[in-house]
Amino acid sequence: MNILGIETTCDETSAAIVGLDGEGGAVIRANEVLSQIAEHAAYGGVVPEIAARAHVEVLDRLIERALEQAGTGLDDLDGIAVAAGPGLIGGVLVGLVTAKTLSLVTRKPLLAVNHLEAHALTARLTDGLAFPYLLLLASGGHTQLVAVKGVGDYVRLGGTIDDAIGEAFDKAAKLLGLGYPGGPEVERMAEAGDAERFALPRPMLGRREADFSLSGLKTALRVEAERIAPLAERDVADLCASFQAAVTDVVVDRARVALRAFSGVAGHPTALVAAGGVSANGAIRRALAALAGEAGLAFVAPPLALCGDNGAMIAWAGLERLRLGLTDDLTAPARARWPFAERPSAAVAG
Ligand code: KG4
Ligand code: ZN
Repeated sequence: MNILGIETTCDETSAAIVGLDGEGGAVIRANEVLSQIAEHAAYGGVVPEIAARAHVEVLDRLIERALEQAGTGLDDLDGIAVAAGPGLIGGVLVGLVTAKTLSLVTRKPLLAVNHLEAHALTARLTDGLAFPYLLLLASGGHTQLVAVKGVGDYVRLGGTIDDAIGEAFDKAAKLLGLGYPGGPEVERMAEAGDAERFALPRPMLGRREADFSLSGLKTALRVEAERIAPLAERDVADLCASFQAAVTDVVVDRARVALRAFSGVAGHPTALVAAGGVSANGAIRRALAALAGEAGLAFVAPPLALCGDNGAMIAWAGLERLRLGLTDDLTAPARARWPFAERPSAAVAG
């Protein structure tokens, strides 16, 4: 079994081949990822037109390289998976049109995968995790706590009412004069910082629903930064450490609430799972691992290379869908918005 996975929804172009070994275990045979960060850095964020053009320029070469590395040809594939959204529509179209063309030419099934679902299923690719599990999906555009019950069966237990966690990191970095993307920069600066120096708020702490609100935290950070401006390196480090500690406290509190709600919608979880770019953050990983330990659960987070956007997770989600016969045809739309998890019905939510 070999599935090609194509990812072009944001600022990484990626092509990967994922298959199964003799015992049915997942194998990543190739995972070519090309980041466009350098092309967007000057603008402090992703510019959709630049992203779409950059995807066009490199995607065919990346697919070729992935096939070569996996030692397989297009004709040996069992399916062509592509992230059909959510994301920047120009980029999504580049991947989707490429995948449809390959599917048409090779007569292999097309698998139009939801990018968020692919993040959600990555723990099964890396750790062979069984359903159901509690997922914290945190990236630049999304923040959700989800009960992952099965392929295509996701219940949303909480989400952000304003900024995504990655977005909050990016905005914090920008206002402190650090580079883009902000998450890794803030984490790096925080290492040498004093997390106790600034008493930043912990928005939503203790609330009954597992929702997030992060824009107030960002505003509080700005107020502190302006109060002590001009900022020395030490100040920036302390602000980063204080900010990261506040976000981490909120994440743990919200995840704890979601764990409590979990049994009502999905029974007993096999694990607490983190996915998406923010799951690369060491402080958040350690805090979630401790929370999982308290609850007697395993904690699973992808290796760093699979936290951010990549084709392997798309190929894997495609493989999971193909096994269930969930294939798509050439009418599959590109979607800028595509929610993947629904709120539980009021009766279940209580
Ligand atoms: O999943 P991803 O690669 O792309 C999206 O689908 O958004 O996530 C990118 C986001 C960015 O906001 C980035 O700042 C954040 O993940 N991020 C981090 C870290 N590494 C990446 N946030 C906090 N700490 C990190 N180490
Ligand atoms: Zn992503």
